[in-house]
Amino acid sequence: MDKITQAQEKFAKLLQEQLTRVETMKANAEPVDYTKLDQIVIGLCGGDGIGPAITNAAKDVLAFLLKDDLAAGKIVFKDIEGLTIENRAALQKAIPDDVLAELKKCHVILKGPTTTPQQGDPWPNVESANVAMRKELDLFANVRPVRVPEKGLDWTFFRENTEGAYAVGSKGIHVDEDLAVDFTVTTTLGCQRIIRAAFEYAKANSKTRVTAVTKANVIKTTDGKFLDIFREIAKNYPGIEIDEWYIDIMTAKLIDEKRRTQFQVLVMPNLYGDILTDEAAEFQGGVGTAGSANTGAKYAMFEAIHGSAPRMVAEGRHIYADPASMMRAAAMLLAHIGYTSEAALYTQALDICGNTERKLKITGRDTGCTCDEFAAYVMETITRLANN
Ligand code: IPM
Ligand code: MG
Repeated sequence: MDKITQAQEKFAKLLQEQLTRVETMKANAEPVDYTKLDQIVIGLCGGDGIGPAITNAAKDVLAFLLKDDLAAGKIVFKDIEGLTIENRAALQKAIPDDVLAELKKCHVILKGPTTTPQQGDPWPNVESANVAMRKELDLFANVRPVRVPEKGLDWTFFRENTEGAYAVGSKGIHVDEDLAVDFTVTTTLGCQRIIRAAFEYAKANSKTRVTAVTKANVIKTTDGKFLDIFREIAKNYPGIEIDEWYIDIMTAKLIDEKRRTQFQVLVMPNLYGDILTDEAAEFQGGVGTAGSANTGAKYAMFEAIHGSAPRMVAEGRHIYADPASMMRAAAMLLAHIGYTSEAALYTQALDICGNTERKLKITGRDTGCTCDEFAAYVMETITRLANN
């Protein structure tokens, strides 16, 4: 078979898979109402590197806040083992089948960082576990808040989480030794649901502006579609102003002190969201401080936005890792399942412990406190807040 026919066959298969995905998306569009559940199962997945240490610290605070409902069986914690790079490498799978089956038994998941192999690593180049989980559980909205009150920054990023450059990111085609092609995928429903989520969030939280970030001047078909749908949906939200930026100038505007305070809710395709949210988190103290919600209609997963820091483990420093990002993620999990006052207490305590009071400091080494000591400090602070 000649190389073009071979590539065409691979491409046809990709298209078929994507069309099937659209049908599944349509069939599963109805969101879960957590208030109607008798029991909510929270999956705990430590991941790799510093993951288990920081996930455990975040979980201890969750357990503290939920102790009554845990005792009553309204909330159940489910430990999920096996999402480690060793196991994934041995099985050559982004998510081993038994782990995926366990994940699907949970309503929401708190997940530690997982190592993502790349070309040239000692690990087989399997797909990222995060990316696979977002796709398998159809977690289409990656919501990443960044707040720096003293600088007037209050941004909420809505990153599309299942499509764009990520949809078939590990299924590009080497046509021959000279020509390689990757694909970016955009669907109508995929755009609609993330853009609606951004506007609904803006409406519910009295935000007055939603900003779309694309590169529609160059990536004309798929980003163009995203932008068309953005303009269309915006018509249903007359009280909300809209603006449109290209990703390159947007990265510049985030450091423009006059302009950046005007952004509130931002919505964008997957890869731009990946890049922009790391930049944005830097203003807040780095990716170690940011949590992220990955939500879909049926499942939701909450994680840190940073990696697994294998170097810290190699140097025996994992117990000193900063659990703030996982704790922020855990607070978002609480808000997502309707425990809004507990979520607010958790967040407020994190602001006090990490920003204003800072009785204990995390330095990433033995000059600072451990994750567990920090968790105890957060719990103590929650008790103080609750008694006031
Ligand atoms: C993130 C991460 C992941 C992504 C990596 C680990 C695959 O950078 O959650 O932002 O690119 O989405
Ligand atoms: Mg990223």
